[in-house]
Amino acid sequence: MVSYKELGLVNTRDMFAKAIRGGYAIPAFNFNNMEQLQAIIKASADTKSPVILQVSKGARNYANPTLLRYMAQGAVEYAKELGWEHPQIVLHLDHGDSFELCKDCVDLGFSSVMIDGSALPYEENIALSKKVADYAHQYDVTVEAELGVLAGVEDEVQAEESHYTRPEEVIDFSKRTGCDSLAISIGTSHGAYKFKPEQCTRDPQTGRLVPPPLAFDVLDAIMEQLPGFPIVLHGSSSVPQEYVDMINQYGGKLPDAVGIPEDQLRKASKSAVCKINIDSDSRLAFTAAVRKVFAEKPGEFDPRKYCGPARDLMTELYKHKIINVLGSDNKAL
Ligand code: G3H
Ligand code: 13P
Ligand code: ZN
Repeated sequence: MVSYKELGLVNTRDMFAKAIRGGYAIPAFNFNNMEQLQAIIKASADTKSPVILQVSKGARNYANPTLLRYMAQGAVEYAKELGWEHPQIVLHLDHGDSFELCKDCVDLGFSSVMIDGSALPYEENIALSKKVADYAHQYDVTVEAELGVLAGVEDEVQAEESHYTRPEEVIDFSKRTGCDSLAISIGTSHGAYKFKPEQCTRDPQTGRLVPPPLAFDVLDAIMEQLPGFPIVLHGSSSVPQEYVDMINQYGGKLPDAVGIPEDQLRKASKSAVCKINIDSDSRLAFTAAVRKVFAEKPGEFDPRKYCGPARDLMTELYKHKIINVLGSDNKAL
């Protein structure tokens, strides 16, 4: 049993309370490899932004759970080396799908876990989320639970059908589970294809898809039921068109990839939404930079020569999110 406190990590409790009071959101960035982690820490340290490092079940399978945990511990030391005196870094399990997986992460030194029972019947979701919260709270680990189903298809996180969170259920759900934050469904979804072209309109000037707005009325109704309670948005990548264009220009094929417009995320950040999950945008930046090097320098075979530019582009992306979208810069001085 390792306590996250010994690793220099923090849980989400104070971080979320401050974010709600201050009208900004904490970035929750997924990582699977060293370059993503370096870029996240560099961007957070340079901007003094609290940050949530997210590890999915897929990331654990890809990189090895123990290695990822030690990388997160190393990240705290790296942040200090970069001149960030008091790093506020959370190590969070993203989309935990069983009590055993959540327990394993708590025992390994995670400071926060998500139990995603959103696909289960209501009472089963409550029972599973409560079991995780009861265990995690013994170690002061915070717990995110989910109510409502996001659309979209990803490697590990899949949902055939979506439905918005029902505001009339959130009080009962949060009370009975004891969760510390609640992930909700208001129209975001995972991956780089968040909306079908037929759900969007087209900008007559650029020909780009313009997605439908998020259901802010549902968010408002949820906040009315649970004043001041921390709300989480998954599936919040914006799918920057410059990365999609770069990928397509250099041999990729991402037709009609579309994300959540940044102005909607800016608006959400000012509300009780205090954690915004971003993974796909980092994947797009990484891929765009690597494709560019491969296309322009076909003789290159040193991974540092294409992972380096990918890391630089991801760092730029993370800083942009922190400063221009979530407003979390200078909140962890
Ligand atoms: O919400 C899902 C995250 O983007 C993680 O994706 O399960 O493919 O690692 P993954
Ligand atoms: P995106 O696919 O929009 O980046 O969402 C990531 C996410 O929700 C991780 O849990
Ligand atoms: Zn998610």
